[in-house]
Amino acid sequence: MSTTKASHGQWSSRFGFILAATGSAVGLGNIWKFPYMTGVSGGSAFVLTYLLCIALIGVPILVMEWLIGRRAQKNPIQAMEHVALQEGRSRHWKWLGLVGILGAFLILSFYSVIGGWALDYLFRTGSGTFQGMNGEQTGAVFNGFLGDAGSLLLWHTVFMGLTMAIVAMGVTGGLERASRIMMPGLVLVLLILVGYGVTTGAAGRAAEFLFTPNWSAINGQVVLAALGHAFFTLSLGMGIMTAYGAYLGQNVNLLGTARTVVLLDTTIALMAGMAIFPLVFSHHLEPSAGPGLIFVTLPIAFGNMTGGTVLGALFFILLSFAALTSSMSLLEPVVALLEEKTPLGRKSATLVAGSVIWLLGVASLLSFNHWSDIQIMGNNIFDFLDKLTSKFMLPLTGLGIIIFAGWFMNQDSIRRELGLEGPGYTVWRIVSRFVAPLAVIAVFISLLLG
Ligand code: PFF
Repeated sequence: MSTTKASHGQWSSRFGFILAATGSAVGLGNIWKFPYMTGVSGGSAFVLTYLLCIALIGVPILVMEWLIGRRAQKNPIQAMEHVALQEGRSRHWKWLGLVGILGAFLILSFYSVIGGWALDYLFRTGSGTFQGMNGEQTGAVFNGFLGDAGSLLLWHTVFMGLTMAIVAMGVTGGLERASRIMMPGLVLVLLILVGYGVTTGAAGRAAEFLFTPNWSAINGQVVLAALGHAFFTLSLGMGIMTAYGAYLGQNVNLLGTARTVVLLDTTIALMAGMAIFPLVFSHHLEPSAGPGLIFVTLPIAFGNMTGGTVLGALFFILLSFAALTSSMSLLEPVVALLEEKTPLGRKSATLVAGSVIWLLGVASLLSFNHWSDIQIMGNNIFDFLDKLTSKFMLPLTGLGIIIFAGWFMNQDSIRRELGLEGPGYTVWRIVSRFVAPLAVIAVFISLLLG
């Protein structure tokens, strides 16, 4: 990862760090998963809970992951152990780091399948496949694609291969620097798409669906989905942000940096929602269509707007790029762990880890066709892995981190490191010690009680 020093012109370690952290945070989670989860979980009930979860739970955990990483200057497992021992606590806190890496391993397997969809759509859109199509037709194209295991396999393999090549060659820093251009590019294309959706689609209904409070639709499942997605989209609970924190200078303001990263991440997700839902309603599509939502709706825009073929290809290039800066952050800690614990070098460690993850990804992609009947606890393999990680592993490791930070660390040193005084510190204490952990615990209890 890149932490170019201030001597490089406009580069500062803080800016390099923001690029790396935002590169990991912004990805398929914002543009593919956020809209589809919103659609499945009842619109505004999900959006509003998600925003609350980001502010009250996501931000404190993000800051604490960075702080722990910065203190320890070590990988996530050793970092937890180091800080725990420093605080006079048990070294077993390190297991949180290990569960996190396992989560990254599982997530990457299905993340790569969806990254493959984005790559395929880059070529499909660029070759004009969607010219003049309506929602029914784009839906048929997408279903045909899902049924074609060979194509899914090809693109999953290409995406995973690219991720492995980047990590094996250690060029992640270069990619993060490139995201200086790609990220604003993505925001720009999204703005155009929001403009198209708002002018040609059902913007009013979309805004109502996304933002008009509908408290009665909120239930335990919606809150858990929103909580899990807050972790997923900010790359929390996997030790990734802890690992990035190890590269942070002492002078970097953690809360200010968190605000920048979180604002960018959230804005991009909301823009994706405002690009997609006006088209969903004006084309009478089902908001709860599931993982295919953006692959059915956005092609309508690309097939019917002037310059849509070029803009569509550009959009999927930028989306694939954003997905790669996230996927490499998922692979990196797995490889680093293997490198450290086995005699394998970086390249062989990447090959071994990447191949196992790829294989698990094949099981996920088959759940869209040949293996759709195989169920694990009532879900197909893809859904099972997604739920296991987002709804259980990430919130639980996040809970562990926030409990450790709020109850087992010296609060005075945290206050100094965060530069908090007076009322700001009081708010931080209440949120990190009570609100965040209790909210996560309450969600789990409410689900256990049915
Ligand atoms: N945050 C990424 C996204 O929203 O696409 C996905 C992700 C990356 C999840 C890294 C978890 C992670 F550790």
